[in-house]
Amino acid sequence: MVIAIRRAAQNMLPGSGESSTTSSSETAIGTRLRDKVTIVTGAAGGIGQALVRRFAMEGARVVLADRAEENAQAIAASLPAAAANFLVRRCDVNDEKSVAACVDATLEHFGRLDGVVNNAGAMSFNPLTAWTRADWERMLGVDLLGAAFFSSEALRRMNAGGAIVNIASIHAVMTTPGVAPYAAAKAALLSLTRSTAIEGKARHIRANAILPGAIDTPMLWNNPNIKAGTERIDKYDVGTPEDIANAALYLISDEARFVTGASLVVDGGRTVRL
Ligand SMILES: NC(=O)c1ccc[n+]([C@@H]2O[C@H](COP(=O)([O-])OP(=O)(O)OC[C@H]3O[C@@H](n4cnc5c(N)ncnc54)[C@H](O)[C@@H]3O)[C@@H](O)[C@H]2O)c1
Repeated sequence: MVIAIRRAAQNMLPGSGESSTTSSSETAIGTRLRDKVTIVTGAAGGIGQALVRRFAMEGARVVLADRAEENAQAIAASLPAAAANFLVRRCDVNDEKSVAACVDATLEHFGRLDGVVNNAGAMSFNPLTAWTRADWERMLGVDLLGAAFFSSEALRRMNAGGAIVNIASIHAVMTTPGVAPYAAAKAALLSLTRSTAIEGKARHIRANAILPGAIDTPMLWNNPNIKAGTERIDKYDVGTPEDIANAALYLISDEARFVTGASLVVDGGRTVRL
């Protein structure tokens, strides 16, 4: 079933004083995630907002979990009315109490949990010799432990048939100088995905990872290795947040019912080039 909504935006033409229909779009709400309640962490970020929009447009009820609550509110407010079935929740993924409270709030608000996308992440740059213990703990906290805390909550409290998607990175398998904690965390995230998949199997909960390549978000363009040209990417190497959202949509949906413990590289072929 597809619900079609016709939205016509009435805009004033500058200087003309006339009212004119400048855009008219038909927004189809699909059913691939109909009524599934899915938490997206890092929902206010570049990839996070694409995940929220893609899932909402397939009928999901989405929990936008982010430290940056105001930005998440703005993203939720921009959803088309027919897809706006959401909860915004301030959440620090590096704090297990905050993670548990996010799942509490989800169950209280929607009465169920069917999916989690562990997407929150951060990338900082330093030579290996300069990282302190506190730096390591902060980086591993955001890029690894957050996913572990959410996976633990999900295995105990998610509906049977639920699914987890961990947003890792191609840094899990290849890397550049300056990002040792990030690369270590993303590699461990693949291992966490496999552990979650085998321990979730008895409850019919699946877990898979996506390894994005270079994706057009501020995280990419703030990367000093890219700015300096020491990490070379050409235009064919850069994907969009929607490329990641489309892959996550498949993995979180029932279409992937026999796919668990898998790692899907979404990088435009960058890591297979000689
Ligand atoms: N952009 C890329 O090229 C790229 C490539 C590979 C992997 N990734 C991964 O994709 C994910 C999203 O990246 P992005 O490019 O959208 O980055 P982004 O910086 O635009 O978004 C990250 C989001 O995570 C949130 N966040 C950070 N720490 C948090 C915490 N402790 N608790 C809750 N929220 C927190 C931020 O507020 C932000 O909204 C990350 O895991 C990143 O490692 C990105």
